[in-house]
Amino acid sequence: MKDAWPDEARKWQRIEAVAREVLFAFGFGEIKTPVLEKTELFARSIGEATDIVEKEMYTFADRSGDSLTMRPEATAGLVRAFIESKTYAQPGPHKLFLIGPMFRHERPQKGRLRQFHQIDVEVLGDDGPQSDAELMVMLAHLLERLGLSGVQIKLNSLGCPACRPAYRMALLGFLDSRRGKLCDDCRRRLDTNPLRVLDCKVEACQEAVEGAPAMAEHLCQACQDHFNMVKQLIGGAGVDYQLDERLVRGLDYYTRTTFEAVAGDLGAQNAVAGGGRYDGLIEMLGGPAQGAIGFAFGLERLALLLPDEKDPPAPALYIAAMGEEARAWAFTTAAELRRLGLWVELTPEDKSLKAQLRRANKMNAAKVLIVGPEELKAGKAPLKDMATGEQNELALDQVVPVMAPAQ
Ligand code: HAM
Repeated sequence: MKDAWPDEARKWQRIEAVAREVLFAFGFGEIKTPVLEKTELFARSIGEATDIVEKEMYTFADRSGDSLTMRPEATAGLVRAFIESKTYAQPGPHKLFLIGPMFRHERPQKGRLRQFHQIDVEVLGDDGPQSDAELMVMLAHLLERLGLSGVQIKLNSLGCPACRPAYRMALLGFLDSRRGKLCDDCRRRLDTNPLRVLDCKVEACQEAVEGAPAMAEHLCQACQDHFNMVKQLIGGAGVDYQLDERLVRGLDYYTRTTFEAVAGDLGAQNAVAGGGRYDGLIEMLGGPAQGAIGFAFGLERLALLLPDEKDPPAPALYIAAMGEEARAWAFTTAAELRRLGLWVELTPEDKSLKAQLRRANKMNAAKVLIVGPEELKAGKAPLKDMATGEQNELALDQVVPVMAPAQ
């Protein structure tokens, strides 16, 4: 878990501002749900046999003895809220996004934290391929708007309850003969979640799955038609994507379309965003049989890809004031300008002019006004433009009107 200082926080603000703009253009509304949910909600929706539920959740009993978990992801809580509020009874699709912290007790490394932040995006109450395509077009827009190049979108279909069991059998048949070559985790996965073996990062496992049957060849007609339409729509919209038969994702609720955005620069933890369709989840959690799809960005990973700011923010005016009276004048003048939204800085103590100018320089102030007893008496003071070095006398009663930001 880490602290984000202003330089880092400003990157997040930039990402969030661009994300909100793009999301609003696609008709999404922002939702906030609690960080804590009942443990059972995550166990049921993400799946008992996933890494998240087995090893990574921050779970504790509260004072009433209820088992609560700090959300490891946003989808489950959002679906819970959707069902609880009966929003499903209104005509859909319901487009929602959530920005907030998530918690997973993972082994920390570059791009992998125990408290991280997601921009989570969900379309609930719709099962048509246009929603899938819309989300991927939006994902591509957002990456483009942030100026991120070299991010690839990977796409797969995991089928549905009609066609996946047969695929699972075919895959198990293939993997069974290679059991000895698999890592301990994957040998266990053969019994619980064999599809996960396909995207295990251990080299021996990757070799063992060479030539494994592909889900794409086992899709039922309805899944095939859906997937073809998604590809046609995003291709038509100019989204650059690659098919990836190994893209399984680490949460059990997925059906049909799954996708990820990956960036080589991030090293091992290279997924900036990931998501997919989860058509069975709303019903499984007690709602009606409605389809849904979504994805989430990792804010920290996006921030790692963003270049540093060229011009960090700086004060528009620094008032260097000497002597008690001038300092009192500077204090009220700064307050007036700050009320109008201008960033004005003062030195908190009575320091030498040299020390005050040094601080103004260090903060990169655009202009410096120098006021002492003489200037107060004369009713005017020098205003220096720090970029050009140009200096003009300014009447003290003109400081606020001249410096006030244009409304
Ligand atoms: P996820 O792939 O587990 O999916 O997480 C989405 C994104 O969150 C990842 O691509 C990554 O950028 C970021 N992320 C995940 N774990 C960490 C971590 N430990 N440290 C830093 N960043 C991390 C989900 O969470 C699904 N709920 C997405 C979704 C929404 N599917 C449908 N709707």
